[in-house]
Amino acid sequence: GHLTVEWMEYVAKRLEQSPVSVFAVVEFYTMFKTEPMGKHHIQLCRTLSCTLRGAEDMQDVVERKLGIGPGEKTPDGTFSFELVECLGSCGTAPMMRMDNRYFENLTAEKLGRILDACKQGRDPANEDTNR
Ligand code: FES
Repeated sequence: GHLTVEWMEYVAKRLEQSPVSVFAVVEFYTMFKTEPMGKHHIQLCRTLSCTLRGAEDMQDVVERKLGIGPGEKTPDGTFSFELVECLGSCGTAPMMRMDNRYFENLTAEKLGRILDACKQGRDPANEDTNR
């Protein structure tokens, strides 16, 4: 889930580019990581549609329940959290991607259930309903 210096040097060699060119690309694009993410990596969309429909409240839920802010990882490595630009699911805002799965039409209650499921080792997909 992340690129080490050794891997970036390998890629540079394979592409016959300078290592600094590869490092620059990795630094520019946020989807490339240079450190391991948490077991559950949360990407909360903060672009317009999601913001208008409550993404700030969802950020508050993540911060309150996990005790971490954007760009941080829980001490036990279970969760990492970042704010991202539009994930192309504006019609189901607010939404987040976690572990390469979309969780849409989030509410504070639903997001709380999803995070609790992860903490308890249960499949968060089972909480992806709008009860
Ligand atoms: Fe959030 Fe597009 S604005 S998915």
